[in-house]
Amino acid sequence: MMKTYTPMIQQYLKIKAEVPDAFLFFRLGDFYEMFFDDALNASRELEITLTARDGGVAEKIPMCGVPHHAAAGYIEQLIEKGFKVAICEQTEDPKQTKGVVKREIVQMITPGTVMEARSLDEKENHYIAAVTGFEDRSYSIAYLDLSTGESKATVVDSKEEAVNELVSIQAREVVFSSSEDPAIEKMLRERNILSLSTMDDCDMASSFTYVVEDLKEDKLLRSMNRLLHYTMSTQKRALDHLQKTAPYQTASFLRMDPNSKRNLELTETIRGNGKKGSLVWLLDETMTAMGARLLKRWIERPLVDQKAIKHRLEAVEGFVDCFFERQTLRELLKGVYDLERLAGRVAFGNVNARDLVQLKKSLQQIPGVRQTLTEMDHPVIQAISDSLDPCADLADELETAIVEQPPLAIKDGNFIKDGFNAELDEYRDASRNGKTWIAELEQKERKKTGIRSLKIGYNRVFGYYIEVTKANLSALQEGMYERRQTLTNAERFITPELKEKEELILQAEVRSTELEYTLFQALREKVKVEIPRLQKLAYEISKLDVLQCFATVSENRHYVKPAFNSERKIEIIEGRHPVVEKVMDSQEYVPNDCTMNKECEMLLITGPNMSGKSTYMRQVALTSILAQMGCYVPAAKANLPIFDRIFTRIGAADDLVSGQSTFMVEMLEAQHALSHATQNSLILFDEIGRGTSTYDGMALAQAIIEYVHDKVGAKTLFSTHYHELVDLSNDLNNLVNVHVSAAEQDGHVVFLHKVKEGPADKSYGIHVAQLANLPTSLIDRANSLLAGFESTEEKTGNKQIGDLSTGQLSLFEEPEIKKEKKPDKIQRELLATNVLDLTPLEAMNELYRLQKLAKSQSK
Ligand SMILES: Nc1ncnc2c1ncn2[C@@H]1O[C@H](COP(=O)(O)OP(=O)(O)OP(=O)(O)O)[C@@H](O)[C@H]1O
Ligand SMILES: [Mg+2]
Repeated sequence: MMKTYTPMIQQYLKIKAEVPDAFLFFRLGDFYEMFFDDALNASRELEITLTARDGGVAEKIPMCGVPHHAAAGYIEQLIEKGFKVAICEQTEDPKQTKGVVKREIVQMITPGTVMEARSLDEKENHYIAAVTGFEDRSYSIAYLDLSTGESKATVVDSKEEAVNELVSIQAREVVFSSSEDPAIEKMLRERNILSLSTMDDCDMASSFTYVVEDLKEDKLLRSMNRLLHYTMSTQKRALDHLQKTAPYQTASFLRMDPNSKRNLELTETIRGNGKKGSLVWLLDETMTAMGARLLKRWIERPLVDQKAIKHRLEAVEGFVDCFFERQTLRELLKGVYDLERLAGRVAFGNVNARDLVQLKKSLQQIPGVRQTLTEMDHPVIQAISDSLDPCADLADELETAIVEQPPLAIKDGNFIKDGFNAELDEYRDASRNGKTWIAELEQKERKKTGIRSLKIGYNRVFGYYIEVTKANLSALQEGMYERRQTLTNAERFITPELKEKEELILQAEVRSTELEYTLFQALREKVKVEIPRLQKLAYEISKLDVLQCFATVSENRHYVKPAFNSERKIEIIEGRHPVVEKVMDSQEYVPNDCTMNKECEMLLITGPNMSGKSTYMRQVALTSILAQMGCYVPAAKANLPIFDRIFTRIGAADDLVSGQSTFMVEMLEAQHALSHATQNSLILFDEIGRGTSTYDGMALAQAIIEYVHDKVGAKTLFSTHYHELVDLSNDLNNLVNVHVSAAEQDGHVVFLHKVKEGPADKSYGIHVAQLANLPTSLIDRANSLLAGFESTEEKTGNKQIGDLSTGQLSLFEEPEIKKEKKPDKIQRELLATNVLDLTPLEAMNELYRLQKLAKSQSK
């Protein structure tokens, strides 16, 4: 007869089949066990011992496990690696069942749905998203942060934009329908969004009608419904804290693709990938976790609506003007805990008494906050004050209910205040009276027996007892007490009277802890009802926090309030790069102006290496971003247009670290900017074209400049080392040359970091090499080579620019095919490739393949 698996393993396999893509944590007594492949994988990922057990068949079954009390840490590790975990519990009491205990999956934990505080960075949102593609090539995206209940939804025009949006919000997990075009999954994987899940469309549970109330478009509903359904099916519990989904349009914000954001180091630096050195690092003077999260969202989504921007700026101005009140406000905000996530935990049912005390303390800060805001006597700030609902009823209730320092466990009692509930007070009286009675009894018995060391004690097994040491036993009258327990040095006794009291005391204690638990649940329900109010308050507080943060930074770092114009004019006087300025510390940052208008749409920036070209360009972009966020800007004066989009492309060599610095990526990014930029955009091209041979690079650079100048008209800063390009200003009316100056002193270069009109005259590249301590002999050789090059150039008059400007530059138009020669294989293949449909990786591979082909042909 063939052997079969034991009933338990059969049960395991049945449950495992429900969650093929997750680790199944299968509860067995005090352990969560994993079997088969799960065990093999988990033992490797978690570095835990792999064992084996009999499962009814010939071979043993691989198994490994973690103790249930330590499971959280292991789950966290798996989630962080992008895996999912299904928790399967015993759902009936093993003592009361015969055969295999019933087990069920009670929760799925996935990268997008973790709620454990340890896995959540308090300063970051943690989004799970769903996307849906439509026939018209548009995509809808919905996302939600389960810890705060916030959710949003939008429709974008293309796959690329959908991916950009998902990367922008740093989606931890993305849910697709099983019929979705796999191309988008592939693109997401390439961008490091690895946790992808499947859930098919279905009707929405009616409990969510409220959540999707504001979504009028069917496309939005498709993604949001699926997201809600997925969340429900993984969490298997109440999601009462979900807020109404807010529809939005990407065009209502200053748009920046993820690469541009990275180049500008908004939330992390390019090199370290850490926060330090980024704009958010500079700006974060928030006092609450909610504020820090909102700050990050605002940095990633500056506004385009002038009225809304001005509104923020006015509030910032109000805060800047009131230094002392602002300090008081900051102190008060420090006392406000993470209301959003508290609300989330209330809804999830995993709050404890300490959480409720935090909630109460936070609410109790609000009247003070309002008072302080009112004292600032500023109309916009007063409106903020009026919007803060102190939820006084709730705060009072919590104040009267819960002691200041409650224990962690909610099942052991001792956290409800006296006087909150009459019945509880009675039990407590009974227990306290009982204890007094016992203390009095001890005195009485000592007197009666004359034994001074007689004492009454308590333990769990015997309850209350009278203890008399062996030496004193003779002083007891026979039959006075009932003997209970004999120790080496003492005897323990009881009396009927004592046992009677004990019964009363213990009963009162059991009842009171039970009652406390019931009261706690009732309290939790009350708080639950108030979740929408708490969420609204949380949002208002976080806005307030970010605005005061802007004011604090603006004052500390001497920023000014920007003005805006609709003439597409940039006027920044004595502007600085906010982060470089801060990092430089005591050294002087050299401020620079930037003026651009209708006659000057493009700046062609030249200057030696290390002079500050890149810094200058980024400072212009960052100034605009800060201004459109509603923050003051690092300048003496700033008058700016409102940009719709910002594109940045920084030189290939600056970007090696990410491993994406191929020339192709650079070209793709240039293409992206050129095809999406409008007159109202800002483009930064930092040394574009430097990743290829000089002539190719220069040719491309010139073609790009001409194209932007003639066809796009966006405000553009273009830095280059190709000095030949400076002559372009003769032909292009709206192009202006500027250079970052440097001076030569005793054969050494001195960087002045000052941006001046006109082109740079010298390159100083070799001087920089010298600064970097390259061998002297090498430097000498370079200098003599340079002298050689320069003299040949003078002799032949060979200025590359002249030749190029007459040539055909055809990157962005149909390539011209030379007629006289039959295209060879490589050429045919090249022509058949749609470059713009390739991902950077595919492009690299293609290039590699073609090169191989070329090599084989040239042999
Ligand atoms: N305005 C300034 N004031 C003071 N120091 C500056 C200023 N601008 C730049 N620097 C300093 O010079 C360094 C180099 O600047 P940056 O990278 O912008 O030079 P670059 O001209 O782009 O060089 P490369 O051509 O090699 O890319 C910066 O890291 C900063 O320390
Ligand atoms: Mg540079």
